[in-house]
Amino acid sequence: MLVTGNDILIPAREGKYGVGAFNTNNMEITQAIIHTAERLRSPVIVQMSEGAVKYGGQDLANIVIDIATRATVPVALHLDHGSSYASALNAIKMGFTSVMIDASHHSFQENVHETRRVVEAAHAMGISVEAEIGRLGGVEEHVVVDEKDAFLTDPEEAVAFVDQTNVDYLAIAIGTSHGAYKGKGRPYIDQARIVRIGELLGIPLVAHGSSGVPAEITQRFRDSGGEIGEAVGIADEDLREACKHGIAKVNVDTDLRLASTVGIREILQASPKEFDPRKIFGPAREVMSKIIEHKMGVLGSVGKA
Ligand code: G3H
Ligand code: 13P
Ligand code: ZN
Repeated sequence: MLVTGNDILIPAREGKYGVGAFNTNNMEITQAIIHTAERLRSPVIVQMSEGAVKYGGQDLANIVIDIATRATVPVALHLDHGSSYASALNAIKMGFTSVMIDASHHSFQENVHETRRVVEAAHAMGISVEAEIGRLGGVEEHVVVDEKDAFLTDPEEAVAFVDQTNVDYLAIAIGTSHGAYKGKGRPYIDQARIVRIGELLGIPLVAHGSSGVPAEITQRFRDSGGEIGEAVGIADEDLREACKHGIAKVNVDTDLRLASTVGIREILQASPKEFDPRKIFGPAREVMSKIIEHKMGVLGSVGKA
């Protein structure tokens, strides 16, 4: 069933588990996300970035909404990194049940102002809202506290932000970053900061940049002719820990991009005569499903729907 973000994330925060928010750009990705969620009895969030809205538009939103409506588990359709009031309202008009307004690169006051406008409009229509405070980016473990404080989310500021905006869930900067290169070795996550923010705020917290970039997938990518450097993601154990302390929405895009490309590369390499799209995109869907299944297991959302 199609539900709001709050319907999924409030129970997750209370139950101390995380829910995957997976980015989609086409039908196969959407099917992999929702059908895996059904198989595992897990709630799930399907998200479209503004780039995905541009690429797939209402056609893609309708595919998500249709599969979600018929699904036997709760599914929300979320706008990822909405950059403006107009963009958030447009998503609501398209049928999204959750929107992010990301004004985190503006000043605190401007971020509050933009977020509050979106919250007022979205709440009037029963739609829940995510906002972000702090700047995403990898940190080295040995970096001094002052430097971390310069861009990671300040706990007191987070409380003031939520008080002033009435936002439903909050993305916090804790050391994660977008993409396939999140640092060296095991990327540093500021668990103490999550604990502190989780103690001060009862609303669901959001971790962006949470792909695991599994070594098995990057190796298969290379083995099938792809080129990728020292790619590294967030360790499963670190995400598991984060979900115990308030992280309820866990954003994953890179892992599905890699998985789908691996599926396509492997089949094209193994069967050069193949040109039936179902034989090409079908295996990609399978590889994505495995990644999603693993992530849902790590986050603890399996069996929660
Ligand atoms: O956080 C960004 C997501 O990975 C979406 O990326 O804007 O290229 O669709 P995109
Ligand atoms: P990854 O690049 O780690 O998949 O993060 C995606 C994300 O945060 C989307 O908002
Ligand atoms: Zn993000």
